[in-house]
Amino acid sequence: MQKYLINNLGDYEGQEVTLMGWASNKRESKGLVFVILRDGTGWCQCVVSLEQVGEELFEEARKVTLESSLQITGKVLKDDRQMGGFELQASSIKLIGESNDYPIAKKEHGVDFLMDKRHLWLRSQRQWAIMRIRNRIIFAIHEFFQKEGFVQMDAPLFTGNACEGTSNLFETDFYGDPAYLSQSGQLYGEAMAFSMGKIYTFGPTFRAEKSKTRRHLSEFWMIEPEMAFYDIFENMDLIENFLRSVVSSVLAGCEKELTLIGRDTEILKNIVKPFPRLTYDEAVRIIKGEQDVNGKNAITSLEDELSSVKTRMSLVQTEIVEREEKIKTPGMKKGEIGFNQAQIDKLKQELGDLEENERNIPQWLNSARNFTYGNDLGGSDETVITRLFDVPIMVYNWPHEVKAFYLKRDPDNSKFARGVDVLAPEGYGEIVGGGERETDEKLLIEKINEHQLPMEAFEWYLDLRRYGTVPHAGFGLGLERLVTWVCKLPHVRESIPFPRMYGRLLP
Ligand code: 4AD
Ligand code: MG
Repeated sequence: MQKYLINNLGDYEGQEVTLMGWASNKRESKGLVFVILRDGTGWCQCVVSLEQVGEELFEEARKVTLESSLQITGKVLKDDRQMGGFELQASSIKLIGESNDYPIAKKEHGVDFLMDKRHLWLRSQRQWAIMRIRNRIIFAIHEFFQKEGFVQMDAPLFTGNACEGTSNLFETDFYGDPAYLSQSGQLYGEAMAFSMGKIYTFGPTFRAEKSKTRRHLSEFWMIEPEMAFYDIFENMDLIENFLRSVVSSVLAGCEKELTLIGRDTEILKNIVKPFPRLTYDEAVRIIKGEQDVNGKNAITSLEDELSSVKTRMSLVQTEIVEREEKIKTPGMKKGEIGFNQAQIDKLKQELGDLEENERNIPQWLNSARNFTYGNDLGGSDETVITRLFDVPIMVYNWPHEVKAFYLKRDPDNSKFARGVDVLAPEGYGEIVGGGERETDEKLLIEKINEHQLPMEAFEWYLDLRRYGTVPHAGFGLGLERLVTWVCKLPHVRESIPFPRMYGRLLP
């Protein structure tokens, strides 16, 4: 067992401790070996000096390789320049497990390579920080619901009926009969809510999405509260309080991790502001550029952005060429070459991002300009609208045809269903889908038929309307979508330890 941990070395300043962990870096200079040890709680520089440890142990230290596991004993010294604020002055070092030719080197690897090595990539600082933030989010979710008096329930994963459409079901064999991997625990949550009042599920859900997008996983974790005697507006209040509480908890508890991944926390701090609530109709007007948001127009701001992306691209390209010429100058000092090379690398990185924007913006513009009223919002539309906001927004009152069968028809206008989607800002899009449930048995039967769902699989669900139905509502939060936004990740795949998505089943 590790008695001493890197994240509380502060308690042992000046004392001798033994750390156990893995070498995440090593460099040598005359008579000194510097090992960066990581133990799961943090990173600490350990200095092994020939003078202090003697010939034999020093040779041991020199043999340390990337990701070999070690035990290092030494004195804790304060050093504000170090990552954690402390350094270990080693008095002894012992190898636990060898590591030869660790495949993830310091140089940049492509994401596909890193995904193939996901089991090892998880050890790197950035992935470590993301997983810690995920953990904090999970903790905060349970904390919120438990404090609010919700009962956690586990919904089945083998199901006999579709919940969220039939196009993305994973079919499996259940003792010779077809069964589906659960797309959502909601229907079971509704049953349990009529026993408990307020419940939430927290479990894996499965959707066969045969396309590669930055938002879709085939297996993801969903949190689905369901509350008896709630209408859509009370549901929206709950969603808002819930997300505010979870994000605030991350801000309070993951300062180090957010800094490590370079997340600008100002946007996250806006979570205390009220979430704008837009009807579907308003959202469509905004997307089509017919209505501004705080003086910003979706269409013209994208057009402006595209032209500044193009201007910046040509500047960056010119500078890269100039610097590449420059480092060819005969007799240039090593330091200066290094500096220029670093600048070139940075510019190339920026160019990559700009090129991506140059590809994406015209697509977003195109789908926004041609959006057809009555359609569901697509990924591009969500991007367009949420780039105009700095807090999550709620879109409600959807055309009933594009939403799930179980949503309640708006009593004031039967064209609409009482669904609500929460879209995360900064272009992220949908993180929550929910709404008030249809309680009218006849209307539900109509919908089940309209969606061509097998009635016999829903008999039990209809019972909930036959025996003491009440107004009720709930929602589903996609855990990975929330982690992705909170960490500002380019793709949902880094938000889960081992992603399952189209084209990826290993590791
Ligand atoms: O909007 P969805 O499909 O809603 C439901 O499943 C309802 N039964 C929820 C409820 O009212 N109880 O999914 C809910 C959320 C989405 O907003 C999104 O965050 C996430 O689940 N989600 C996905 N996340 C990752 N990959 C996918 N393929 C996802 N599909 C949905
Ligand atoms: Mg949805």
